[in-house]
Amino acid sequence: MTTLNTLCRAPRAFVLAAAVLAAPVTGAQAADIAAGKALVEKANCAACHGADMKTPIAPEYPKLAGQHESYLYHALVAYQISGNPQVGRANAIMQGQVNANPGIVGKDGKPRPFTRQELRDMAAYISSLRGDLVLKK
Ligand code: HEC
Repeated sequence: MTTLNTLCRAPRAFVLAAAVLAAPVTGAQAADIAAGKALVEKANCAACHGADMKTPIAPEYPKLAGQHESYLYHALVAYQISGNPQVGRANAIMQGQVNANPGIVGKDGKPRPFTRQELRDMAAYISSLRGDLVLKK
């Protein structure tokens, strides 16, 4: 009987595991370019990076338009966690931009950090703009 039970349970466990693996990933949504555009405008990123995101106001400010989406997203996350010396990027200006942008306020009316989804959306939008840094097929 025990042997029969064990034999019967095994396939069920397998079916369950397969169902869990096949379940859609709900955490991260696909990036939304239109939402990213609205956020970039609200946050006034153009003030430094230029309206087209590739004519910065100073030579030491980077050109963003057209850079790879995954790179832009990674850079924004790195500024958000700039306190972490292993993975963070230390830049006072951008750290402030992603964590306490005056245009992005929470329910209490105070600047709040961008959510990861918002960073993803902005990266998608900026990447979709025509740039002169990367070659696209
Ligand atoms: C007050 C000026 C200023 C504003 C406003 C600003 N940035 Fe920046 N940004 C900078 C500077 C300066 C750097 C370079 C920092 C460094 O050396 O790491 C930078 C770097 C970046 C980078 C990294 C680019 C790369 O090639 O690695 C991204 C991405 C970026 N900014 C996105 C944004 C977005 C999105 C916004 C709006 C939410 C924004 N910035 C608003 C000044 C600004």
